[in-house]
Amino acid sequence: MPRQQWVIGNWKMNPVTAKAAAELASDLSQSASKLNCSVAAVPSAAHLAAAGNSLSEGPVLLGAQNLCALEVASGAHTGEISAEQLKDLGVSLVLVGHSERRANQGEAGDVLSQKIQRALESGLRPVLCVGEDLATRESGNHLEQVAADLVRVLTPLLDQDWSTLILAYEPIWAIGTGRSANPEDAEQMHQHLRAVLLGLKAEAQHTPILYGGSVKPSNAAAYAACANIDGALVGGASLIADDFMDIARAFS
Ligand code: PGA
Repeated sequence: MPRQQWVIGNWKMNPVTAKAAAELASDLSQSASKLNCSVAAVPSAAHLAAAGNSLSEGPVLLGAQNLCALEVASGAHTGEISAEQLKDLGVSLVLVGHSERRANQGEAGDVLSQKIQRALESGLRPVLCVGEDLATRESGNHLEQVAADLVRVLTPLLDQDWSTLILAYEPIWAIGTGRSANPEDAEQMHQHLRAVLLGLKAEAQHTPILYGGSVKPSNAAAYAACANIDGALVGGASLIADDFMDIARAFS
């Protein structure tokens, strides 16, 4: 059975207004109908409702950039958003462990495992992001380091059902830099991560592994041609509806 292909747009803290987010979502919704891959838009928390409204009824799924790690649906947790609250907003998937949150909010290890657990329990698809920094890549230790991080995060979850898990390999040095990983190097990492996942759980053969890091319309087809690259997690180019759709078509 071929693995499902996914193209996910991570809008990060963009755009500024809910009106602009709703318009972008509406543009995507209108142009995504003929695609033969799963497409999702991941607006900031401030715009989940506005973007979600524009996406409702259409083929583009709504994602969130973060969720609360605690095992509670509501309570005294200022600034947090629970998995249940995200579900109530129509969210279907959630990013976990994006390198910007690892760097800026200090997220790692157990917290990431807990967030994935919360997502799995409540029926949200977790999109776990992993990737090495430039120093690690230059040291040649990137395959081992990224695999070790993956094993650390997923080992506490071995008794969970992983059928909805998505993995995204995003080398940190390629995020927002315009310097994308060459497709052969990305494929090598994806192959390695696939083997590591399979070593943890047999059902991981169906886990989509997406590439992220300066994916653009001009390089998407080269990634799509790689056997173990099952889609893209797109940052900057996801803010331009036509560019994002060109990328989605490459994986369709
Ligand atoms: P980029 O971001 O496409 O702008 O490099 C990717 C990401 O952070 O998910």
